Amino acid sequence: MTLTTPAAADFPVLAQENLTYLDSAATAQTARPVIEAMDEYYTEYRASIHRGVYPLAARATDAYEGARERVAAFAGSTPGETIFTKNVTEAINLVSYSWGRTNVGPDDLVVLTQMEHHSNIVPWQLLGSRLAYVPVTDEGLLDLDVFDELLAQGPKLVAVAHVSNVLGTINPIEEIAARAHAAGALVLVDGAQAVPHLPVDVAALGADFYAWTGHKAYGPTGIGVLHGRRELLEAMPPFLGGGHMISRVGDYESQFAEPPARFEAGTMPVAEAIGLGAAVDYLSGLGMDAVWEHSRDVTGYAIERLRTVPGLTLHGPAELEHRGSLASFAFEDIHPHDVAEILGRQGVCVRAGHHCAQPLMRRLGVPASSRASFAVHNTHEDVDRLIEGLDKVRGVFA
Ligand SMILES: Cc1ncc(COP(=O)(O)O)c(C=O)c1O
Repeated sequence: MTLTTPAAADFPVLAQENLTYLDSAATAQTARPVIEAMDEYYTEYRASIHRGVYPLAARATDAYEGARERVAAFAGSTPGETIFTKNVTEAINLVSYSWGRTNVGPDDLVVLTQMEHHSNIVPWQLLGSRLAYVPVTDEGLLDLDVFDELLAQGPKLVAVAHVSNVLGTINPIEEIAARAHAAGALVLVDGAQAVPHLPVDVAALGADFYAWTGHKAYGPTGIGVLHGRRELLEAMPPFLGGGHMISRVGDYESQFAEPPARFEAGTMPVAEAIGLGAAVDYLSGLGMDAVWEHSRDVTGYAIERLRTVPGLTLHGPAELEHRGSLASFAFEDIHPHDVAEILGRQGVCVRAGHHCAQPLMRRLGVPASSRASFAVHNTHEDVDRLIEGLDKVRGVFA
């Protein structure tokens, strides 16, 4: 099954001339139904949720909680196990502060991987436990033999990206979770680069915590998601204190609400949650199998064409089956920022830098790379424009 309609028409930004957007891994463009859903909230029923009893407020509450239901179903979770956050970064920090400070001591071990985004590294450094990293092989895959050795040390948690934002590697989460659980560890998955592109079923994957971010999934900025196993969430203390997250406030102590409310203190990003609900409806309407197949087609074509560019090194797994919707690359003699800038002048938007993955950059032995990433609106023609642009880059530095 492939995408039946040309999805580019669904993204107002893309109507402008000479724009080839290949940076959806940084932030995706907003789909029109998302903009409309947020606009409707602002123009028709803006009100504070959970507190007001008048019809406008009831409508806003229903829209917010309805979005939670659809977001949960989209990822194979349940509403009671789905917390709205600001982004995936905040979702991971929530787990590290709340679950981490209760369950992980300074001598305990947290296992990360060398391909994590800083969002899945720094919160664990702040926790102050021991850290160990699963190395990345020369093929861009996780070294699962070393993973087993680390598991033998009895870690409390394994924190791993579902899809690497630099290598594109799709990690075998089911297998990682099964091995981690057998060793008595919990598993947190950073799904930022997975949820927008491939069908994700949090329960089937066996993740204890699964975090993702709305703005990469064609939704608005300012909204992220944490799915957590119910019994874990119930045992966790609040992350932030304030309105809505309590059941009773005494003068000197309080009782807290049940999850997910316990973890949603203060006025939440209501419009953004409603927008994210519209984003998952949009993706469900396209069909995640079709979205994934489209990604296979465009990413496969991009890899094939990038391999033909003289002097270009492609990072990440050679096999498409191990690769998500992106391709990072470098030229030996041309700085990635120069590559991105010259492409940018031609209307081709790619990301350059360390991609918030400095430990991985050190492993690759490069300070930075360029990254093209693909979305439902990208086509083979977009890839052709990238390749033509790279020819011009090479021409400038010839
Ligand atoms: C794998 C991965 N994790 C985490 C993040 C952080 O996302 P956010 O800034 O939305 O929290 C990103 C985004 O760049 C990412 O690619």
